[in-house]
Amino acid sequence: MNENVTQGVNLDMLRQRAYNLRWATLPADVIPFTAADPDYPGPVPIAEALARYASDRYWSYAPAEGILPFRESMARFYNEQRNVPAHTDRVIATDSAAYGIYVVCKAMLNKGDEAIIFDPVDFLFGYSIAQMGATAVRYATPQTTAEMTFDGLEELITAKTKLICLCNPLNPTGKVFSRQELTVLGEIAVKHDLTILSDEIWSDIIFAPYSFTSIASLDEAIRKRTVIVTGFSKTYGLAGLRIGALTSFTDEMHRRLMDASLHNATIHGANTAGQIAAVAALDECKDWVTGILRHLTEMRNLCTVGLNITKGVICQPPEGCYVAFADITATGRSSTDIAELLMKEARVAVVPGKEEWFGPGAEGYIRLSFATNREILAEGLYRIKQTLDSL
Ligand SMILES: Cc1ncc(COP(=O)(O)O)c(C=O)c1O
Repeated sequence: MNENVTQGVNLDMLRQRAYNLRWATLPADVIPFTAADPDYPGPVPIAEALARYASDRYWSYAPAEGILPFRESMARFYNEQRNVPAHTDRVIATDSAAYGIYVVCKAMLNKGDEAIIFDPVDFLFGYSIAQMGATAVRYATPQTTAEMTFDGLEELITAKTKLICLCNPLNPTGKVFSRQELTVLGEIAVKHDLTILSDEIWSDIIFAPYSFTSIASLDEAIRKRTVIVTGFSKTYGLAGLRIGALTSFTDEMHRRLMDASLHNATIHGANTAGQIAAVAALDECKDWVTGILRHLTEMRNLCTVGLNITKGVICQPPEGCYVAFADITATGRSSTDIAELLMKEARVAVVPGKEEWFGPGAEGYIRLSFATNREILAEGLYRIKQTLDSL
């Protein structure tokens, strides 16, 4: 499996199909470590399931919540692999995790409301909150995987605060939240009557010895106010199929999410092919996940070692996510300057720690995705080292 992953990267395909700041959008000599989207091809059982489904030649409207096999597989996954008592009737298939985040914000926020997000964190949370005319209140978190006590969080909560957004594991820092940390956060949400949006799209990508805990597994009071957002872009490389899921734990929350989604009106809805692919991912790809985790652990080690022997760069190994968040403050340059320099001199694309990507707390850092093979990663790291060592 490891070898297949390593040997499977097809640059011709990536140059045709991989958009969002990646191969298809860049000159041929540039190596992109940008959007967190794997370079290796996806699992074979997913391709086979899609081929079988396509051969029937029926593409009818599906149920607004998603097809039953999708909702059943998701619920089974949460019960069996996440210790979360999810119910088939409270799973909604969405056309991506990104849309899932948007739907939760739409369901819970009115104009003038406030929602707490971490800083740094992926831009999608702040973006969706702003779409509702609400304000994202940023809670400064470590740029590293350091333990969090949530001191000062309650001071940010006002009468207008309705939602708290948890990203676990945390993109971009790679932090995996411990049971203890989640308990503190969950109790704050209960005390202040806040809904918890728990984005768990990265929850398969956890490096030993760390392990994933869903905040919805803690207790009933916390679970009832939680909506889990997930997707299939990270573990299975299905970003182009735009498939994700929302899972909630009360009928009232489920109704609100359905209303906000516009699925009943057929204005939005997850396409059936994406759902078929997701069922195959959940039911038939356990070996695949084990294989990529072994590979990604090697890539994580290579990436952090390569960055740490580069002048002016410090990089803590992430506990989860296949991104490295590297401190470049010792170069004396801004993250934008370093990203531009790496593009120009090293011909490597990275994501600068700009406010628009991760919030103001990301300045002084760059993010690199290492979901590629050893050869590409080693070449990119070598080029980065050559460029920064000569500063
Ligand atoms: C934390 C987080 N949530 C959501 C997404 C978006 O996933 P999707 O492709 O399913 O919209 C990403 C992608 O980078 C992510 O990192």
